[in-house]
Amino acid sequence: MDGPTFAWALARVCGLAAFTALSISLLTGLGLRTGVLDWLGSNRELRALHEYATVLWAPLGGLHVLALLLDTTARVGLTDLLVPFRMPYGTLAIGLGTLSLQTYLLVGVTGWLRRRMGARAWRWAHRLSYPAFGLLFGHGLLAGTDWGDPVISTLAWATAGLLLLLTVARMVWGRLP
Ligand code: HEM
Repeated sequence: MDGPTFAWALARVCGLAAFTALSISLLTGLGLRTGVLDWLGSNRELRALHEYATVLWAPLGGLHVLALLLDTTARVGLTDLLVPFRMPYGTLAIGLGTLSLQTYLLVGVTGWLRRRMGARAWRWAHRLSYPAFGLLFGHGLLAGTDWGDPVISTLAWATAGLLLLLTVARMVWGRLP
């Protein structure tokens, strides 16, 4: 495998792995709030899984972006990580990735600063994980090569459908009995 092919494969594998970690993070976060995953384990175990997935996505997402920076075909530059929608190709698809990355970074940084922030401000910052996941889903759907694979596509749509259902349940009923 030559250099560019390796970078492209690494970007795809790490992108999908980061997507999985972020899906688990949102799912367990919703589980902690709604009680819908109480059958899976204790609150403490669910919280540990939530925190693990929340930390795990960062190196995987970082590798995804690093591989794309090194990939000479993708032609992603450092500016594209700061300014969305400026790529000449895949403008929307890749721009959504940039916006998603920036939103998740904001959620991560405010997570570290939790003790120094007011509870209300932290809660609203943490809720940005919902739009961040929507942006990420749009990014994977529009930009991803492997998203065209029926197995990956079915898993991704099923995950997004389940998360949407739980989000609506959370908004309507709060913590479920
Ligand atoms: C939260 C951070 C990000 C995550 C979790 C993420 C995740 C993903 C996923 C799941 C795919 C689909 C991979 C596939 O189908 O095999 C993908 C594709 C892609 N992403 Fe990201 N992404 C992120 C940020 C970014 C950023 C900031 C950029 C560039 C500015 C970017 C550029 C790309 C490109 C060019 C592709 C297409 C790769 C291909 O040819 O399949 N991503 N990303």
